[in-house]
Amino acid sequence: MSDRLNILYNKKPCYDIVFSGDFQDLAAELAALEIQDKKICVITDSHVASLYGDEVMDILQGICKKNVLFSFTAGEKSKTLDTVKDIYTFLINEKFDRKDLLIALGGGVVGDITGFAAATYLRGIDFVQIPTTLLAQADSSIGGKTGVDFDGFKNMVGAFYMPRLVYMNVGVLKTLDDRQFFSGFAEIMKHGLIKDAVFYEWLLEHMYEICDRDTDTLLEMVEQSSKIKKAVVEKDPTEKGDRALLNFGHTIGHAIEKARNFSLTHGECVALGAVAAAFISWKKELLSMEEYYEIRDMFVPFNLPISMEELDQEEILRLTKSDKKVEGDSIKFILLKKVGKAVIDRTVTDEEILNAISEIHYVEDCE
Ligand code: GLY
Repeated sequence: MSDRLNILYNKKPCYDIVFSGDFQDLAAELAALEIQDKKICVITDSHVASLYGDEVMDILQGICKKNVLFSFTAGEKSKTLDTVKDIYTFLINEKFDRKDLLIALGGGVVGDITGFAAATYLRGIDFVQIPTTLLAQADSSIGGKTGVDFDGFKNMVGAFYMPRLVYMNVGVLKTLDDRQFFSGFAEIMKHGLIKDAVFYEWLLEHMYEICDRDTDTLLEMVEQSSKIKKAVVEKDPTEKGDRALLNFGHTIGHAIEKARNFSLTHGECVALGAVAAAFISWKKELLSMEEYYEIRDMFVPFNLPISMEELDQEEILRLTKSDKKVEGDSIKFILLKKVGKAVIDRTVTDEEILNAISEIHYVEDCE
């Protein structure tokens, strides 16, 4: 029997997150959603389709009315309204109605697009998340954020829309390449940094098992990380307040992601953004110098960068200020008071941001 967490939405039980080391319990979990008379569309990308498409389609065979698969080109560039339109067309051609079900099989892009298509097709049909990257398991599959990028802005169009089930198989993490694995790990570290010092210490103590991708350690890590995210999203499901704490590292991180044209992974940018935010926290005397350097250096054993060459400081400042986390003229920055305690701060100046970007800008010493 797999472990599970039940996520509340507006204080009512909403959906389960199931934690498993394989897909063995998937059929039973889906059967509990009474799918025997439903059509199911598995939505995935070209990469994940070749890895897990057949396995998941085989599991669905005979337990639902009909199962079909829709696959789009892997990558952030597909996270557009055009892909959503292609999904609508496919669902209409396959005669999907409101009682049918979508399954998002893949990483964050697949989950966000599928969730948005589910939220809007026929004013809302059910969907299930099967996240296959650590980034999606740690972050994007929990909490009901769905959407697409628009006009160069990340996640600009979307909806809060809850899945019926999230099935996390940590077994799939074994086939992730190192960069993708550690990209997701940055979000897990973020959860410890903003909310739970004990979990953060546990991560550091289990560094070797995590890097070796030991199944039991991954199960424990993903479940504990999900508990932290659960507590935050249940308290503030639509980001009116404290859910913004989850954006620690993302304010400058998103700007770097865009400035470097998505050549860095999301987690690499979050790590750089987290170092910059911790630096600002030190300069504002929220953290001590020792705390800042400890936080910064602990990204290194997990293959995450703490500085980067070719960061155009003015461009990153401009992009930081054009992010949707800006309210009026003030940027909603997430800073740290200590490990495990994050705060929202609206007083960060352009000069403080430029100094922080300079701190993470690696310039080779020519002498
Ligand atoms: N990824 C941040 C959130 O779910 O709010």
